[in-house]
Amino acid sequence: MDKKPGPMGLAMESRTFGAPKFPRHLKSRPGPARPKKCGVDLQGRTWQRWIMLENPRILAFAGSLRAGSFNKRLVKIAAEGAREAGAEVTLIDLRDFPMPLFDQDLEDSDGLPESAKKLKALFRSHHGLLIASPEYNSSFSGVLKNSIDWISRVENAQEPPLVAFTGKTCALFSASPGWRGGLRGLVHLRDVLGNIGVTLLPEEVSIPAADELFDDEEDLKDHRTRKRVTGLARKLVEITRKLN
Ligand SMILES: Cc1cc2nc3c(=O)[nH]c(=O)nc-3n(C[C@H](O)[C@H](O)[C@H](O)COP(=O)(O)O)c2cc1C
Repeated sequence: MDKKPGPMGLAMESRTFGAPKFPRHLKSRPGPARPKKCGVDLQGRTWQRWIMLENPRILAFAGSLRAGSFNKRLVKIAAEGAREAGAEVTLIDLRDFPMPLFDQDLEDSDGLPESAKKLKALFRSHHGLLIASPEYNSSFSGVLKNSIDWISRVENAQEPPLVAFTGKTCALFSASPGWRGGLRGLVHLRDVLGNIGVTLLPEEVSIPAADELFDDEEDLKDHRTRKRVTGLARKLVEITRKLN
């Protein structure tokens, strides 16, 4: 280990190898396993180093239950972008995870509903999130908030808080027939997710006039808009690789 002067004239330690390159505050975070490389150096000391994740696992879903949802179409396109960038994407429909409205009495008596447990396990086994949410009365959907509330709960005393969210990366999208494209809902969603440990990409894509922008194949007609969506998804994959 060498000592050399740092920017303030203080001695800084520099190691040739042995120190994981992973940021200290993320090292002990709960979540999917990260690949490691281990070995023994010439002095017989063992070392390990995080290897950059080639294929991050990304969970993609819309905050709408509606069969013809624009946000479901949008997140599907984002999922394609993430796959093209090398991610393993799991595209889910919140309709397959029905939950009662969060009620702490119900939680005290019965614990988490099965669907909440399944959704929480999915969050835990993925590194990043692609979310497209509708805007309802200037906020994101109640269905999405209800799901977040349920899966934010711990299932036993050993479980660290917010395991479903801590250290996940996330890119946000929205679509609406209105002229703002649902972006006001994303302000609230960004706030909530940021407060529970999710690292959000600063960029987001909101699609206004969504009722006119999708073709019969449920794809975006305008290739530039499509490119913005897939581009943001690709960026999420790159950032997720770097952080894991
Ligand atoms: C209760 C309710 C409130 C809504 N509020 C807004 C709103 O504040 N802003 C907006 O752009 N659209 C609003 N809409 C219209 C939705 O954006 C539209 O129904 C959209 O298609 C829903 O997303 P989805 O297609 O993914 O289901 C609202 C719709 C409902 C049902």
